[in-house]
Amino acid sequence: MLELGDLEDQLIQGNVVEVLKTIPDGVFDFGFTSPPYNLKNSTGNGMKDGRGGKWANAKLIQGYDGHGDSMPHDEYVAWQREVLTEIMRTLKDDGAFFYNHKWRVQGGIIQDRSDILEGFPVRQIIIWQRKGGINFNPGYFLPTYEVIYVIAKKNFRLEKGVNKWGDVWEITQDIKNPHPASFPLELAERVVQACPGDMVIDPFMGSGTTAVAAMKNGKHYCGIDLSETYLDLARKRIAHFEKFGNDSSLNE
Ligand SMILES: C[S@@+](CC[C@H](N)C(=O)[O-])C[C@H]1O[C@@H](n2cnc3c(N)ncnc32)[C@H](O)[C@@H]1O
Repeated sequence: MLELGDLEDQLIQGNVVEVLKTIPDGVFDFGFTSPPYNLKNSTGNGMKDGRGGKWANAKLIQGYDGHGDSMPHDEYVAWQREVLTEIMRTLKDDGAFFYNHKWRVQGGIIQDRSDILEGFPVRQIIIWQRKGGINFNPGYFLPTYEVIYVIAKKNFRLEKGVNKWGDVWEITQDIKNPHPASFPLELAERVVQACPGDMVIDPFMGSGTTAVAAMKNGKHYCGIDLSETYLDLARKRIAHFEKFGNDSSLNE
């Protein structure tokens, strides 16, 4: 088992569930993540075959480094439930996990992610309203939102005053980040500022956005990702922030 000292301000390369199983109970104050959405498991001419279809301009057409994002739906749901189970175990009794996901309709079935979340203490759903979206099939309205589930233990309280932000957060999408599916720093900062405590876990850390948000707000992070390439990007961002106090390494 890892100890708190092994986790603070650390990026851990590995398979999310395997790594989480090495982390003791109740060490993190809160968490934030955006998992892979399983987008390549799509119907029609979507992400699946690389043509893009309704996702024609999406960076994710090339896929992730080291992750296919194309599991059978039931397998994907079971995987995400296992991640959430481990995460809730590693949170303190007054902790909460902010879980970013996307709703979609596939083969006429609405995927609102309730199959992943059944039994977890979802307290609220936040809408992340992006300003603009990716180019889309003319048969569809341009998609511009994602959701964030606030999965909160009973004693979790928001920081004072942040409830005035409301439950629709208008934040521009990240465009400079070379990671194919990063969320914007401002989004991660909202979560970091909304939660008491100073140790945040992001089990799908990618390019390190949650880590930079934590540092910028005087907090600590622990991140996991399968991809050494993305973790290198995260290390570069973190080192740049430590040196210059800003996140402009993505502009270089
Ligand atoms: C949506 S991205 C997260 C992006 C991140 N929020 C950012 O701002 O850069 C999902 C991440 O999950 C990682 N991933 C996929 N499968 C994984 C696994 N089995 N274990 C750990 N990480 C995994 C991918 O490498 C990818 O970086």
